[in-house]
Amino acid sequence: MTGVKQYDFRSMSFYQIWIRSFCDGNGDGIGDLYGVYDKLEYIKSLGVDGIWFSPIYPSPNADYGYDISDYRNIHPDYGDLAQFKKVLQKAHGLGLKVILDLVINHTSDEHPWFLESRKGKDNPYSDYYIWRDPKWKRRAKRPPNNWFSQFEGLAWEYDDLREQYYLHVFAKKQPDLNMDNPKVREEVKGIMRFWLDMGVDGFREDVITYISKHPQLPDGIPFLPAINGLPFYKDGPNLLTYLKEFREVAREYGAIQIGEAPMTPVKTALRYLTGEDRVLDMMIQFDTMMADCFLTEFVHHGFWLAKLKRAFSRWQYALAGKAWNALYLENHDHPRVISRYGSEKYWRESGTMLAACYLFQQGTPFIYQGQEIGMTNIRLSSIDQYKDVASIHAYHAFYKHGSEEKRMHRIHLASRDSARTPMQWSVASNAGFSSAQPWFAVNPNYTQINVEQEERDPDSILNFYRRCLALRKSSQTLLWGHYREYIRHSRKIYLYERSYAGERILVMLCNYPETGTTGILRPYEVRVFQWGSE
Ligand code: NOJ
Repeated sequence: MTGVKQYDFRSMSFYQIWIRSFCDGNGDGIGDLYGVYDKLEYIKSLGVDGIWFSPIYPSPNADYGYDISDYRNIHPDYGDLAQFKKVLQKAHGLGLKVILDLVINHTSDEHPWFLESRKGKDNPYSDYYIWRDPKWKRRAKRPPNNWFSQFEGLAWEYDDLREQYYLHVFAKKQPDLNMDNPKVREEVKGIMRFWLDMGVDGFREDVITYISKHPQLPDGIPFLPAINGLPFYKDGPNLLTYLKEFREVAREYGAIQIGEAPMTPVKTALRYLTGEDRVLDMMIQFDTMMADCFLTEFVHHGFWLAKLKRAFSRWQYALAGKAWNALYLENHDHPRVISRYGSEKYWRESGTMLAACYLFQQGTPFIYQGQEIGMTNIRLSSIDQYKDVASIHAYHAFYKHGSEEKRMHRIHLASRDSARTPMQWSVASNAGFSSAQPWFAVNPNYTQINVEQEERDPDSILNFYRRCLALRKSSQTLLWGHYREYIRHSRKIYLYERSYAGERILVMLCNYPETGTTGILRPYEVRVFQWGSE
């Protein structure tokens, strides 16, 4: 194997920036790279070692950056390449790695490749996307199969210019690329090189397990509308081959690759994460995100601690000694975790308990902007105030038989927009996020929950995150130790141990307002015991 030696990402932790809502540096109400530049010291002060940026490229924002119209540039709302280089240089100077989002399952329908591809079958970009003729039924045009998109109705859209349907597993404005076309894979490698040559340290690879589709695109078995077809585009036949090609590029630079893998079971994950040709370094699994639902937008059943514990332990045990976990509780795709798995009433207790619950497991932790200060879900009064394509569609399509109150309740529980409200920096107007009217609603609780106040409070959630991250970094046991779960059947307590070279650390967490008969812990209390020698 040739290439540059990879840095040891296993002892690191990362902070995720969803830039539009992070910090506005030029006073237009939109977060940007000027704001990021100013906040790098803050990020460093958390004790993390790197940043993952959700997409910062030009995009019409049908899916806020995940619909890219130019892979080699910066969205003008966020700055330009020169400003990105400044951020990169300053981050590196502070000892922070920088990881970008690589979104290659689809582009924007405004990407020049798609604009060309639409023009006809003899176009050089003709085969860059997945085009199919309509099926005709009683003289009516029908899509080529019965797949549903995850965001907006059917997975096929008819294009009048090309007179064919194109596949979009996500929004209509996100046509899927045809990764079976070697030219598309060369484009991907070129994009990777472009950023790696600039000094970027790796990629978080968006829905990377969707890039190889079943060659026949067969009908799915209708089950749940939004995922009908999923088995035919997830973990497809050529996925490993394509990932190996991309891995070669990453190896030349010693870059790391973190793959997002919705609904990929742990057994399948091991195929990508282990062995000689390990094609990914870590995987963003979804099991731990379903402790209160089956897919965030759909079936909500309330929080089940048993489901969360099972998911954590499944990944801890299965990967032990073989592969490495990516640990997270929040990102830009899920509502805030205190509102979901904890309690807004016991805000401080549950915020700190949730931090300890995952930061002390084996793996590389990711902390999402605002999570470290305990930001909570927003509850806007009308669907018109929401921005996310998936939430708006869910409101109109899935909850339509309920009362307005019930429909909005589902949005309050499930919308990704709860993770996308502006970062709460201070008690100043607009939560110190911007001097102008922010592009999206600020959570009114910013007067109680904000960085400035938590900086001053030694017992704040913010300072608790700092302490946990420092402890993890300084402890061989927390970094490398063996994981073992106890009292698996308890429905209120999550108890796990890490052990290494004679030292044991026991993490005891109560995930309920009352502890019932055990009486060991107070509501949402966490206790960490350490014994033996290191
Ligand atoms: C996963 C991303 O995290 C999400 O935000 C996006 O909407 C979909 N992939 C489609 O790119």
